[in-house]
Amino acid sequence: MFEITRRDGLARIGKLETRSGAIETPALLPVVNPKICTVTPRELYEEFGFGALITNSYIIKNSPELREKAQSVGLHEMLDFPGIIMTDSGTFQSHMYGEVEVTNEEMVEFQKSIGTDIGTVLDIFTEPFWTKEKTAESIVVTLERTQKACEIKGDMMINGVGQGSVFTDLREDCARKMASMDIDVHPIGGIVPLMEQYRYRELVDIVISSKKGLNPNRPVHLFGAGHPMIFALAALMGCDLFDSASYAKFARDDRLMFIDGTFRLQDMQSLDCTCPACRGITLDGLRKMNSQVRTRTIAKHNLYQIRGELLLVKRYIREGRLWELAEMRCRAHPALLDALRRLGDHSDFLEKYDPVSRDGALFYTGTETRGRPAFSKYAKRIMERYVPPTDKAALFYDEGSKPYSRAFESEFRTVRKAGYTPVVVSPFGPVPAELDEMYPLAQSVFPLTEDSETKADAASLSVAFLQSKFKEAVRWSDVPDDGTEEFDANLLRARAVATYQFGHEASASLFKGKIELVVSRNTGKIRNVVSDGEHVLSMRAGDGLYTLRKEGACRIVAAVPAPVMRVAVVDDAVPFVSEGRNVFCQFVSYADPSLTPMDEVIVVDAADKVIATGRMMLVSDEISAFKKGVAVKVRSGAGDES
Ligand code: GUN
Ligand code: ZN
Repeated sequence: MFEITRRDGLARIGKLETRSGAIETPALLPVVNPKICTVTPRELYEEFGFGALITNSYIIKNSPELREKAQSVGLHEMLDFPGIIMTDSGTFQSHMYGEVEVTNEEMVEFQKSIGTDIGTVLDIFTEPFWTKEKTAESIVVTLERTQKACEIKGDMMINGVGQGSVFTDLREDCARKMASMDIDVHPIGGIVPLMEQYRYRELVDIVISSKKGLNPNRPVHLFGAGHPMIFALAALMGCDLFDSASYAKFARDDRLMFIDGTFRLQDMQSLDCTCPACRGITLDGLRKMNSQVRTRTIAKHNLYQIRGELLLVKRYIREGRLWELAEMRCRAHPALLDALRRLGDHSDFLEKYDPVSRDGALFYTGTETRGRPAFSKYAKRIMERYVPPTDKAALFYDEGSKPYSRAFESEFRTVRKAGYTPVVVSPFGPVPAELDEMYPLAQSVFPLTEDSETKADAASLSVAFLQSKFKEAVRWSDVPDDGTEEFDANLLRARAVATYQFGHEASASLFKGKIELVVSRNTGKIRNVVSDGEHVLSMRAGDGLYTLRKEGACRIVAAVPAPVMRVAVVDDAVPFVSEGRNVFCQFVSYADPSLTPMDEVIVVDAADKVIATGRMMLVSDEISAFKKGVAVKVRSGAGDES
């Protein structure tokens, strides 16, 4: 069973439950070679806090001594590991050394007999140098074996390994077929040679195409990925599990892992590491250790690096800043930078999962930041939804101070009096004055010195916007300063944000009749929208977006047909949700597929009657796939969150 508690990008903090307990994901499973325990499983568990490990059932099966012990006392006792044990099947040995002389059924049964928590199918490793035909043929066999494994797995959980080499259509198709099987964990296989060759850009296509086909309610394991340098990017793409043999392999070769690469002990100029394994040791001291002690010290150092980075990845997911961490990490190597740039080409897919707002500000760390879905989402939405109050635009340029309506307060007033709508050319593209306080426009930080790529992109987006929305656009300084037209800046903002956030029809239903705005005395910001005496919306000070009140939700439901903005719950859940309890996945009968995480949502019953309002925690596909977890965080009683 897998459940998501937090998310950012495609990353999730999840909980994977097995019969040997649960682990929080993203997690890494250190590889334990049952023949050489560089660091013992007990140490991995107690000293490092790894709640799960992976070992190789093929190696155990081929060693009479280990086989007998594993079958008599079980893997957990044999390894002295109280946590979760995953086993691999021999596929990797076939990749390294050629054919293995065992069958899939034999390996699955063997893994069951030694008490593995999560066993693995004997999949066929798709090599990157194979033709597409050969790759496709081998996937057919892997799928047959996977189906068989699901039938005979009993109460052992099973890894159904997705293959397909670098062919993204094969990857997606294989993933989709696996999604329909009774699989517990989805490793993405066949990627080790690509990672060894630093082909991270292709790895991005492989992971994204696999994610497209997979079922969101199962954890995804990036099989053979164990370098901390890739964790942030891989987690951002939705990988929940990793495994590392390299911590020990590298240690045996005197190689130390760091977040920015792997370094040879003989080449290092200093041991500038503060991990518990390196504490009190000098570079010279480490070099002079006897080889066994040195290998153990380096292996422990490598494990601390892995553990530290995973903790950091989780923190950044919780803070909604994983993009920032991935961007930092991907600057450690040009091949990673290439991967990050490639991820920007997948923003259509990422947009669906990207939250409409985050707690903290968006940091621009370089031109790659423009590949984030927050940028493409904004650009699409203003083109689709923005309606200018006048047909003339006055252009301003971002000078670093935000929100623009404060930075250019008197200039905005002057041009509005002359019948012009202020539009700021920002790194996001055009920002009409009415929208400037909304996430991520005001909640973002850019360097003062612009780079030409972002500047050019912003300019071309702005040109397209101005041409489609206005009859005329001039520099603000060319607008006459003696205009006398009247306008209500707050009302313009109130409407424009509603239309941006909820669409034209919904917004029209909210802004009917007499409109009164409640404005904060301290900040001058809009707080509530009252329409014909009904409090329909509250604006959040933090992200400048609306919280939908129940009265507003009723207006929308009356005006806009289902399923727009709705999550419908089954009858059993109605009394609970009406009292303000959250909506859990298993009680949802349908959810508007266009809603993204943190979107405002209307919870309705089977007759489309409003029973609550709240915020989406998952997207519709996820809600239908998950058996557990909160789908909508319901706002109780008064309905004012801010
Ligand atoms: N370990 C690393 N890659 C793979 C793979 O593709 N399949 C299996 N079973 N194990 C792996
Ligand atoms: Zn160290």
